[in-house]
Amino acid sequence: MALNRILVIDAGGAHMEEKRKKEKIMKLDNQVVFVSGTNRGIGKAIVDALIKRGVKKVYAAARKIDQSAWKDARVVPVELDITSPQQIQKALARAQDVNVLINNAGSLSGGSVLTATEPDLMRDMQVNYFGTLNMVRAFEPVIEKNGRGSIVNVSSVVGLASMAQAAGYSASKAAIFSASQALRAELKAKNISVHIVFPGPIDTDMARDFDFQKTSPAVAAENIIKGIEAGDEDIFPDPFSVQIGGSWSKDPKAVERSFAAM
Ligand SMILES: NC(=O)c1ccc[n+]([C@@H]2O[C@H](COP(=O)([O-])OP(=O)(O)OC[C@H]3O[C@@H](n4cnc5c(N)ncnc54)[C@H](OP(=O)(O)O)[C@@H]3O)[C@@H](O)[C@H]2O)c1
Repeated sequence: MALNRILVIDAGGAHMEEKRKKEKIMKLDNQVVFVSGTNRGIGKAIVDALIKRGVKKVYAAARKIDQSAWKDARVVPVELDITSPQQIQKALARAQDVNVLINNAGSLSGGSVLTATEPDLMRDMQVNYFGTLNMVRAFEPVIEKNGRGSIVNVSSVVGLASMAQAAGYSASKAAIFSASQALRAELKAKNISVHIVFPGPIDTDMARDFDFQKTSPAVAAENIIKGIEAGDEDIFPDPFSVQIGGSWSKDPKAVERSFAAM
């Protein structure tokens, strides 16, 4: 690649950003959506919010499915562990009509990068990075075949700057953030928009031990859907993440320093 191509910085004005957004807008009513990790937490709330939004169908994936969990006939339960290539292929075979993929499933193993066990560090990478990426790699050709679509990857505010107490998790969320930026560039020509979600503390099992003010999963889910529909590339779905996202866009080092002080 020529160096001059690398050095071109997109300094388009506000109207260009608006134009880009209009091109990417994806109303979710009447779409077929696949969501991972839907048996609890944010994933479950996303399925509820999608149903309210009037989607045509939602594939609600979970490691353990409960056929009676959803009352609405538009919800199709799918068994899926995103670290299993075989289960990804099986899910894909069932969901050939998908045009929106929401990679929500995630794992959090606490601990610093100095003291966490290697299996814990590996688990977060296997789920949050490789599992999510393998979902994208499997579903992208189907989304392309079905016409315009979207891929939504759930990262975290600690993917923007690391938090020492959950540093392995932070690294895995930074990794999927980085890969998503590359995917966005690569999938633009295929009419697939890529959105990255950076939640702050949300009131789910994952954040049970965090001593922060938390946003309800229902509110976070609504804001994720609004963000996708607005064509937002980076989605900050709660007040904490809105504040962090604002600081990060002006001064990433300030976010690093504030997380280091927590
Ligand atoms: N809650 C927060 O404060 C917060 C903040 C930032 C980002 N996030 C991110 O938001 C997403 C949802 O988290 P949450 O807060 O709803 O957490 P949660 O309540 O712990 O739910 C996590 C979900 O991911 C599923 N999952 C874990 N490993 C999986 C695997 N290998 N294959 C398939 N599914 C798997 C879980 O299924 P099982 O029930 O089978 O374990 C569960 O459905 C995650 O990506 C998380 O990292 C959360």
